Amino acid sequence: MNRLRLLLLLSLTVFSNLLIAQEVAPGLKDIYKDHFYIGAAIDMHYLGKDQSPELDIVRRHCSAIAPENLLKWGSMNPRPGVYNFDATDKYVKFGTDNKMFIVGHVLFWHNQTPDWVFLNDAGETVSRDELLGRMRQRVALLAKRYGSKINAWDVVNEAIEDDGTLRKSKFQEIIGDDWIVEAFKIANDEFPAEVELYYNDYNMPIDAKRQRIIRLIEEIKAAGARVDGVGIQCHWSLDWPSVELAEQTIKQLALTGADIHISEMDITVLSWPYKIPQGSDINDYPQFQDEFNPYRNGLPSEVEVRQGQRYRDLFQLFVKYSDKVKRVSFWGVQDGHSWCNDYPVKNCRNYPLIFDRELKPKEAFEQIYHLLD
Ligand code: GLA
Repeated sequence: MNRLRLLLLLSLTVFSNLLIAQEVAPGLKDIYKDHFYIGAAIDMHYLGKDQSPELDIVRRHCSAIAPENLLKWGSMNPRPGVYNFDATDKYVKFGTDNKMFIVGHVLFWHNQTPDWVFLNDAGETVSRDELLGRMRQRVALLAKRYGSKINAWDVVNEAIEDDGTLRKSKFQEIIGDDWIVEAFKIANDEFPAEVELYYNDYNMPIDAKRQRIIRLIEEIKAAGARVDGVGIQCHWSLDWPSVELAEQTIKQLALTGADIHISEMDITVLSWPYKIPQGSDINDYPQFQDEFNPYRNGLPSEVEVRQGQRYRDLFQLFVKYSDKVKRVSFWGVQDGHSWCNDYPVKNCRNYPLIFDRELKPKEAFEQIYHLLD
């Protein structure tokens, strides 16, 4: 064989091996398939495009999806009789086409619910019965349109304060303290039995909050409705909560019998900007840039490594409890599109997820990808 032919043959072999390697390399969803679903939150910024490299990542690595905004009351039904079904249909189709576990987020939340929901035509606050009727209408409509194509719903989001009291909200003010139980009764009545119903919240490691949520789950069940799962949002930081506290949180919540869903995971690398009013713009506070937005020019490798270790430790815990933990879902796909860049202060450069802004896998990805090797 002359040298040219040999070279050609060799390069063909290398090329085809590369192709095979690319095709067969398992995604995170394959690696964790015996433990839990791997999910990500997506929305129209990806679904609305013909081509989205972020959605390619989701197809490759995820077995579950959640919608960032498009199923919230305000996005889906901003005015009486106006429905954005284009977006919600696209979302459900993406999940169905890719055989994913599809989460509906969220039926009832004090945020992103339009004012009209609480007002009658004369602009007065509606009665308890009227509001319960509107809530039932919303659920019945979604149940009719999607049935069990949407596999699970966050029925109520963030209804308990950190001190364990009920959050004051329009729902609570108009219906009364039993509004959460009523919401679950409605969902229980309207959805097919195979659709799972969840309670979802943040700061679950805080004891007073968690204890109240555990009682709430018991109250809902005592009222004859089901709570199949509890969503631990998991918007956590590099050092809170400790792995021990996270473990206690999972263990105690699992005793209710509800499955555990890590529903909105991200790990911020910035510290809480306590010297700046929440909701303000970091650019209006140049004197605090270095303190609260220190990684404007990139994430130092030691911080990326620390974050990778943190993701690894938490995933190790989730695997340990994988008889209880059914899903671990990231709140977003890549660092450039994450609420952590704009909360609690706008225009920060944060790095909370496992893919960077160029969609390259970060240290956190490598750590969880190889955790079970
Ligand atoms: C909460 C909600 C989510 C989302 C995030 C921030 O966790 O449950 O729907 O709004 O805040 O983006």
